[in-house]
Amino acid sequence: MKRIAIFTSGGDAPGMNACIRAVVRTGLHHGLEVFGIYRGYQGMIEGDIVPLYSASVSNIIQRGGTILKSSRSAEFLTKEGRQKAMNALQKYGIEGVVAMGGDGTFHGASVFTSEHGVPFVGIPCTIDNDLYGTDFTIGYDTAINTVVEAVDKIRDTATSHNRLFIVEVMGRDAGFIALRSGIASGADAIFVPETQTDMNYVAKQLQRSWARERSSSILIVAEGDEFGGAMEVHAELQKRFPEKEMRISILGHLQRGGNPSCMDRVLASRLGMAAVETLLEDKHTVMVGLRHRDITLTPFESAVKHNLSLNPGLLKLAETMVI
Ligand code: F6P
Repeated sequence: MKRIAIFTSGGDAPGMNACIRAVVRTGLHHGLEVFGIYRGYQGMIEGDIVPLYSASVSNIIQRGGTILKSSRSAEFLTKEGRQKAMNALQKYGIEGVVAMGGDGTFHGASVFTSEHGVPFVGIPCTIDNDLYGTDFTIGYDTAINTVVEAVDKIRDTATSHNRLFIVEVMGRDAGFIALRSGIASGADAIFVPETQTDMNYVAKQLQRSWARERSSSILIVAEGDEFGGAMEVHAELQKRFPEKEMRISILGHLQRGGNPSCMDRVLASRLGMAAVETLLEDKHTVMVGLRHRDITLTPFESAVKHNLSLNPGLLKLAETMVI
C-alpha cells in the first residue's frame, strides 16, 4: 500500500485536527503518500482531494474543528454516489482510507468496502462517546470539560439569585456527556436517556435540598432524555413549584468547539497512528479504539450496533452525591 487518504465525517469533534496530523505524519514516516478528502463522503464523491505533507498539518494539534471540513452526504447513500466516490479514489490511486467519525461514517464505510473492495479503517471521533469498542471517543473529554466550565459559571448566577437552572447538554441519544459533566459540576439531578426519569423523586430531592437552605439548584438534562429536553423538564418543575424562580441554558454547539484537551490530543494522536499501522497490516473494516490503555480493533458492525451502557458505578456515585 503506497497511497492512503483521510477524511472527517459527521459532527466535528475537538481533537480531529490532532488526529489528522498523526495520520499524515505516520503515513509519511512509513513512506506513504497521504491525501486529504474535504467534506467527508460528499467531498469524496466530488473528488475534492489534495495531497498532504508534514507542513500541511503544522500548528493544528491545538485547534478545534477539522481542517478537512465535515459534512453529512445523502448522495453517498446511493449506489451511484458511491460509484462516483470510487472513481475519485481510483483517479488518485488511493488504496486505503482512514475514516474519522461516528456510527454513520462507519456504516457507510462498510457498505463501500463491500461494494468496491477499498479498505477503510475507522477512528471514533464524536463528542457523544457512544461507540462500542473504545473507552473514550475523540472529543468527549474536551466536551465534558467545556460543559463543566459553563455550569460553574451558571452556578455563580444561580446562587446569587436563588434560582434553579436546567442545563441541556448534547449527546444525541446517549447520556455520557450528561452523566460525567453532571457529577463533576455537582448537579442536583442528572437526566439521561438510559434511565427512567422519576420526576416525583427529583421533586422530593429538590424540596429536601431547599429545606436545608440550599437555595440554588443545577439540573443537567441530556438532549435525548426520554422525558424531553430542558424545556419539558422546566415546564414540569415550574408547574410543581410555581413560586421557584427557574431558568434554562441550552449549551448547544459550544460543546463541539474549543481547543482539544491534553487527553483528547494524546488519544487522537495514538488512534491516528494506530489507524495507519492497521491499514499497513492489511486489516480493515475495523475501528481502532483505546480500551484499558491498550489499542484495540473492533469490527465496524460491532462498533455501531452494540449499545453502550453507562458505567453503573458512575450512576451510583451520581445518586449518592445528591443526598
Ligand atoms: O453527534 C454529535 C452531535 O453534536 C450530537 O451530540 C448532536 O445531537 C448533533 O451532533 C448535532 O448535529 P448538528 O451539528 O448537525 O446540528
